[in-house]
Amino acid sequence: MKPRRTVLSVPGHVEKMHDKALNSNSDAIMLDIEDSVPVDIKTDARSRIIQSLLNRDWSRKTVLYRMNGLDTPFGYRDLLEVVEAAGHLIDAVVVPKINHPADIHFVSRMLDGIEMNKGWAQRIGIEASIETAAGLEAVSEIAKASNRIQTLVFGVADYSASIGARLVSISGHGEKEAEIYPGHRWHFAMSRMAMAAKSNGILAIDAPYGNFRDPEGLKQGAAMACALGYDGKWAIHPDQIDIINQTFSPSPEDIERARKVLDAHRQATRQGLGAVAVEGRMVDQATVRLAGLLWEQARHLGMV
Ligand code: COA
Ligand code: MG
Repeated sequence: MKPRRTVLSVPGHVEKMHDKALNSNSDAIMLDIEDSVPVDIKTDARSRIIQSLLNRDWSRKTVLYRMNGLDTPFGYRDLLEVVEAAGHLIDAVVVPKINHPADIHFVSRMLDGIEMNKGWAQRIGIEASIETAAGLEAVSEIAKASNRIQTLVFGVADYSASIGARLVSISGHGEKEAEIYPGHRWHFAMSRMAMAAKSNGILAIDAPYGNFRDPEGLKQGAAMACALGYDGKWAIHPDQIDIINQTFSPSPEDIERARKVLDAHRQATRQGLGAVAVEGRMVDQATVRLAGLLWEQARHLGMV
């Protein structure tokens, strides 16, 4: 799968932003018809998204389309109309507020039908938004509900509302959290989702950081998600892209350390040794697996 360090959310009805997004460094672009689009123009936004997909060259980007939730009057038509008209240009549909595996089954069955009707060979993926208490409770079953699922995304704002947690900022995790809770308020929820994603071989993606004039807070939030095993983070403003890309890419020091570990391991294997020391630290099979993973990631990003 192509990298998804950054997913830039772009309001579906603001076409000028589509061009800006296409010319950005974001790995993926998410054309949104959910929370960034006013209720009274949802129908109009569908045709704008369709026209934008058909009339621009999206081939350099991973293209996501976020429909409205299945618990709204818009969701089913968002799926049907946009995917029928332009689904061949969409890599994955982002489905908000997944509460149950049946939500995934419904979307997947609809996609089956549209793909058969159109004769498309490529299968459209699903990005499942985990952003409710019910969704997190059922996350293990949701993650394996369909092999269309490419990613789980943790939506901290809606999740907070769902559990009745206090709103301390509109930024998502990272801003002012320390004032009301010692440690990392979202650690359990985020780790739980990462565990479900990784045990099913899919990516874990973090929600956006709303304060787009606060690069330090963004960096901190992204670094926390990265430390918990997340593969990328949504962005809501072009200024956030470079910071997120950098945070979710291995640093030159990381790559050099991985190279040393892998070299030492190869040499040890030739000599019939098990664990060895590199720079005064023990290197065993687990360290080699971690270094191998990082090397693979750097290779995937064209860094080695
Ligand atoms: N995608 C593409 N371009 C964007 C963008 C985005 N998400 N956000 C801002 N831009 C563009 C602006 O159009 C502007 O372009 P210009 O220089 O050609 O005029 C430039 O980046 C600078 O924008 P700026 O003036 O700093 O911000 P703004 O006040 O225009 O927009 C927001 C601020 C928050 C309204 C806007 O960033 C936005 O709509 N973000 C996405 C919201 C969203 O998707 N929400 C759901 C998230 S889950
Ligand atoms: Mg949400």
